[in-house]
Amino acid sequence: MDGVAMESTLTEGNAVRRADTIHKPVLLSECVDLVVPALGHKGAVVVDCTLGLAGHAIAFLKAAPEATLIGIDRDPEALRLATGRMESEGLSDRFVPVHAVFDDFGEVLGARSVDKVDAVFMDLGLSSLQIDETERGFSYSHDALLDMRMDPEQDLDAKRVLATYSAQELEHVFRTYGEERFSRQIASRIVRTRDDHPLTMSSQLTALVDEVVPRSHRPAGNPAKKVFQALRIEVNGELDKLASTLPQIALHLSVGGRIVVESYHSLEDRTVKSFMSKGLKVDAPPDLPVVPADAMPFFRALTRGAVKADDAEIESNPRSASVRLRGVELIRPLPRRWVDKWSDPPDVDSRGKEQHMNDSHRKARRR
Ligand SMILES: C[S@@+](CC[C@H](N)C(=O)[O-])C[C@H]1O[C@@H](n2cnc3c(N)ncnc32)[C@H](O)[C@@H]1O
Repeated sequence: MDGVAMESTLTEGNAVRRADTIHKPVLLSECVDLVVPALGHKGAVVVDCTLGLAGHAIAFLKAAPEATLIGIDRDPEALRLATGRMESEGLSDRFVPVHAVFDDFGEVLGARSVDKVDAVFMDLGLSSLQIDETERGFSYSHDALLDMRMDPEQDLDAKRVLATYSAQELEHVFRTYGEERFSRQIASRIVRTRDDHPLTMSSQLTALVDEVVPRSHRPAGNPAKKVFQALRIEVNGELDKLASTLPQIALHLSVGGRIVVESYHSLEDRTVKSFMSKGLKVDAPPDLPVVPADAMPFFRALTRGAVKADDAEIESNPRSASVRLRGVELIRPLPRRWVDKWSDPPDVDSRGKEQHMNDSHRKARRR
């Protein structure tokens, strides 16, 4: 990335915070143990799809002295801080920062003439930097413009979702991504009132949810929590991006290569688990007398189910409470069937109307 300032500090008013104190990497030693065995040879390449402040990335490079790391992030501020940290750790010569969304995984590698990589890591969601920057509107506990974009250059923001989506679309977002029980009521109140009272500030949305959700049905904490989570996932296309990226990663993985993913809510973890399970089972009817070689599993599980943080880590880093860590290793070349399927994603019509809606919104995200 061009024009990255080589400093790893964040200025807030008069206070300057060091990048390594802003975000604590979750399950750090577990991730290193899962990723690094694939990086023992000269010329090994690891991609960190969610570079953030490079907490994991620095640990990978230190533990794998022969490896180079391609670090992708959609947030230019995260890239700037990560690049500064790599510089001060003396690791810049083995670090390639890339400003991109990770669903452009294949293009990112293609642009650098890289075909196969040895490990890919994802630590999904927001960094503490993003959560703490109140003006970005991710948090319901501070009043701010309803923005929520991880990439400030993207057009679609939370304000625009709330102003332009139909009641049905909003209900779908709140129900699917927030598992919000009062999705329909919240969506119809937004659509009914938005002409006279456009929603621009997070406090307005919090107040609206507060009015709609009956007191007797309040979850613990802020009643708007699920609606904020759902909006953030929609604005940033988080689940679409994850689902379309995992197959691209498999297509670019060397045999013996590893995919390691940390998720922070059930929908993300379900997406990761369902993708990994495709390669962990025999892909043939159970009554077939001889299983063809091509139908044998192509992944080996590196974790037993999902790894969670222990009490001590949760206490020192509350963000780790919801983490689910999964990893697989590619144990043989991807079967032709999966190469064909994953190289040629289904078109809009066969994915149905819901996907079509996501596609049109995705265009707005990319602009
Ligand atoms: C939880 S943080 C990663 C923290 C990092 N592991 C560390 O230790 O510092 C997630 C990062 O992924 C980035 N991100 C999320 N979705 C992305 C996407 N689709 N494409 C690229 N970056 C993304 C966010 O901007 C954020 O900086």
